[in-house]
Amino acid sequence: MSKQTIVLGIESSCDETACAVVAEGSDVLANSVASQIELHARFGGVVPEIASRAHIEAINTVIQQALDHSGVSPDRIAAVAIANEPGLIGSLLVGLMAAKTLAWVWDVPLVGVNHVYAHAYSAALNAGPIEYPAAALICSGGHTALYRCEGPTQMELLGSTIDDAAGEAFDKVASILHLGYPGGPAIQRAAEHGDPHAVKFPRTLLRGQSLDFSFSGLKTAVLYHVNGVPGARRHKRARKRKAGAARPNGIENLSEQDIADIAASFQAAVVDVLRIKLRRAAKHMGARTLVLGGGVSANSALRSAASELAESMRCTLRLPELRFCVDNAAMTAGLGYHYFRAGQTVPLDLTARATVRR
Ligand code: KG4
Ligand code: ZN
Repeated sequence: MSKQTIVLGIESSCDETACAVVAEGSDVLANSVASQIELHARFGGVVPEIASRAHIEAINTVIQQALDHSGVSPDRIAAVAIANEPGLIGSLLVGLMAAKTLAWVWDVPLVGVNHVYAHAYSAALNAGPIEYPAAALICSGGHTALYRCEGPTQMELLGSTIDDAAGEAFDKVASILHLGYPGGPAIQRAAEHGDPHAVKFPRTLLRGQSLDFSFSGLKTAVLYHVNGVPGARRHKRARKRKAGAARPNGIENLSEQDIADIAASFQAAVVDVLRIKLRRAAKHMGARTLVLGGGVSANSALRSAASELAESMRCTLRLPELRFCVDNAAMTAGLGYHYFRAGQTVPLDLTARATVRR
C-alpha cells in the first residue's frame, strides 16, 4: 500500500453527509455515509435548511469514521477531493469548508469535483476502469442527464431534463400513492406486484433526436389518473381485465393492486424513456460502453433494461454497486484522484456552485 495514491473525498451536496478514502482512484478503503432520510421523510422531500444543519452536525463524525475504517493515517492522504457543485448551496458549503480545512491542516492539494460527473465515475469503484468513449446516463433526485465521456474527467453534456429529474418524479409519484419517502425504492417494491401495462402513461420528448427529458407531465398524468380526471388513459388490456370497474376517484378508493399497477406502469414509462434516450445518445456518439449512475440507477427495472440494451448494441454495460448509486464520497475521491494525477488541483478559495449546466 505504501506506493498507492490515496485521496480522501467529501460529499454533502444534498441530504447525505459522506466521507471516503480511496486508493488509486478505485480501491475503496472506507465509505462513510450519514443519511438524513428520516429527517426529511415527513416533508416528502429534502428541506434545504434542515439539510445544511444536519450536515454540520454529522461532518466531523463521518470524516473520523472514514479515517478509522480505512486504517490510513492522515499523513498518507495525497489530496482532498470535494464535490463543490452542483447541489444545495448551504449543504455544499458545509462539505467545502471541511475539505478546505483538512487540505490546509494536512498541507495537501484540494481538488474540486462536479457531483454529477462523480456519479458517472461511480461504476469504476471497486471495479476495473471504464472503457471510453462511454455514454453515461445519470439519473438521481436532482439530475437527469446524458453525457459523452471520453475519459473520467472529459465530459460533454448531450441532454438533460427540462423540468423534474427522474428521481424527483419517483419521489412525487410515491407521495401521490402514499408509498413514503424516498419514493424510488418504495415504487420499485410496489411495482413488483403490479402490471406495467395496466395504465398507459405518457412517454415524453421522444420525437426527433432530442436527448432532453421531461418528467413533470408524467407525474401529472399519475395524479390525474389517481383522482379520476377524464382523459387519464387506462390500457385496453387492463380495461378489459377490469371491465365494469369504476375509474379511481382518489387514493382512498384504490386497492393495493391498483396502486401496484400504477407504480409498475409509472416505472415502466420512466424506464422506457431512459432506455430510448440512452440508446439514442450511444448511437449518436458511437459509444463502446454504457454507464449508469445516480440514485435511480439502483432501480432493478432500469438495470435490466440497460443490460438488454447493452447486449443488443454490443456495448459493455457498467453499473455501480448499489451503495455507490446513491450519494457517496467514494465517487468524489475516485474521480478526484484523476484530477489530482492530471495536476488539476484548485486553490483554497474554491467556491461552491448550486447550478452548473455542463
Ligand atoms: O443520487 P441520489 O442519492 O441523490 C441525488 O443526487 O439526487 O438519488 C436519490 C434519488 C431519489 O429521488 C430516490 O427516490 C431515487 O434516487 N432512488 C431510486 C431508487 N433508489 C433511489 N429511484 C428508483 N428506484 C430505486 N430503486
Ligand atoms: Zn447525487
